[in-house]
Amino acid sequence: MIKKLTQKDLICHLNMPIFSIIGEEADALGRECYVVGGYVRDIFLNCPSKDIDCVTVGSGIELAQKVAKRLGRGAHLSVFRNFGTAQVKYKGMEVEFVGARKESYSHDSRKPVVEDGTIEDDQNRRDLTINDMAICLNQNRFGELVDPFNGMEDLDQGLIRTPLDPDITFSDDPLRMLRAIRFACRFEFKIVPDTFEAIARNRERIKIISGERIIDELNKIMLCRKPSIGWALLQRCGLLQIIFPELQALAGIETREGRGHKDNFVHTITVLDNVCRAESEAGREPNLWLHWAALMHDLGKARAKAWDEKIGWTFHNHDYLGSRMVLPIFRRLKLPLGAEEKYVEKLVLLHMRPINLAEETITDSAIRRVLFEAGDDIDDLMTLCEADITSKIPEKVRRFLDNFKLVRRKMQEIEEKDRIRNWQPPVDGIEIMERYHLTPCREVGILKDSLKDAILDGICGNNREEALAFLDSKAHEIGIL
Ligand code: CTP
Repeated sequence: MIKKLTQKDLICHLNMPIFSIIGEEADALGRECYVVGGYVRDIFLNCPSKDIDCVTVGSGIELAQKVAKRLGRGAHLSVFRNFGTAQVKYKGMEVEFVGARKESYSHDSRKPVVEDGTIEDDQNRRDLTINDMAICLNQNRFGELVDPFNGMEDLDQGLIRTPLDPDITFSDDPLRMLRAIRFACRFEFKIVPDTFEAIARNRERIKIISGERIIDELNKIMLCRKPSIGWALLQRCGLLQIIFPELQALAGIETREGRGHKDNFVHTITVLDNVCRAESEAGREPNLWLHWAALMHDLGKARAKAWDEKIGWTFHNHDYLGSRMVLPIFRRLKLPLGAEEKYVEKLVLLHMRPINLAEETITDSAIRRVLFEAGDDIDDLMTLCEADITSKIPEKVRRFLDNFKLVRRKMQEIEEKDRIRNWQPPVDGIEIMERYHLTPCREVGILKDSLKDAILDGICGNNREEALAFLDSKAHEIGIL
């Protein structure tokens, strides 16, 4: 239930001087002016925002110029003539000014044909009823709510709905399909059937939207409290198949000889929610890239799936296969290709290791290897692995989590003793070449790797003296000494 606010309450919410200044300047120009969209919605949801959208009947640029002049030093004006908009930055707030518009879109592009319009025209062309409320800033109507599509009621009921026929709203700007899902996920609202069915019908239109705008929405879904809501909606309406077919491929259950496997799509989005919950319980900031790693951790299962007469369904090597899928997907989705991609690829590759450790007898050498390979990302890897336990059998969950506790304790002991996380072997490749009079060649690699393995396996101590003795004996063994 949201708090019903009267005009008096709204006036209190608009008590920052900037709002009355905008109203006064609009009055001086003889124009209507409103604060509109997300800022108004967020007043009702009691989560104040610093992004303010103002719409005026006439030129938004002209009003912005007047407001910036009146605010004087400390105000920064940017004008975007091509779009007919302007922005004023002032004391940490960003106010966008736009003239009320009447728009229609051509079928194969997002570029609208724009004409000047009234405030009603402007409200007719917005995406969702909850984003379509306006509050008047003119002095004689200051604080008056203009809510032609009952956005307040929908906000109160937790409903996502388009103001006009949803086929028109979505076809005009298909990005709004993702926005509807994003808001449903963020506020944990329900999309009304009419609107949802229109998303399913218009889904192919998403193809005219740029990858950058799509990923922007997906990242916002990823940072919600329960991103699974967004991904499940994307799957149900068919958008997932278009924008992320590799994830869609995990959906469904196959049964043979009475044996089914779990629905790996449902499992994946549950893991994602578990990661988000673990972060929030630990008081940690959400890590977007850990969320992507959770969403991608089992992608390899679609290709790895096989039927074994004795064991049933198997997904051998899905961790490796999945890790090979990360880069092409990052590239296609326009996700960053630097350290973030490497991090996700690494977590996908390593995500089975702690589970395997927990199931076997935990040896020091196996722990050292995981610590070495995960490096500073070991805590995130453990968060992912614990989140990966989605079994419904409490006994099984308890056993795994207890084993993980043991793994974590062992990791701590070994890390304190051996400092493996950011470890480099005590003798490097250059020194190996000098010591054995070698130029770069295969043997240098053999010596380097065998030293690293010997130390991780505890065969050789982690110090120069023992390392050099080990290298000498190995060099002897391969015939270069
Ligand atoms: N809008 C729209 N269609 C879009 C994008 C935006 O109709 N494709 C309208 C909505 O009225 C929205 C307003 O423009 O409220 C401002 O958009 P934006 O700043 O992108 O989003 P907000 O709704 O303010 O939400 P957020 O909290 O994510 O910024």
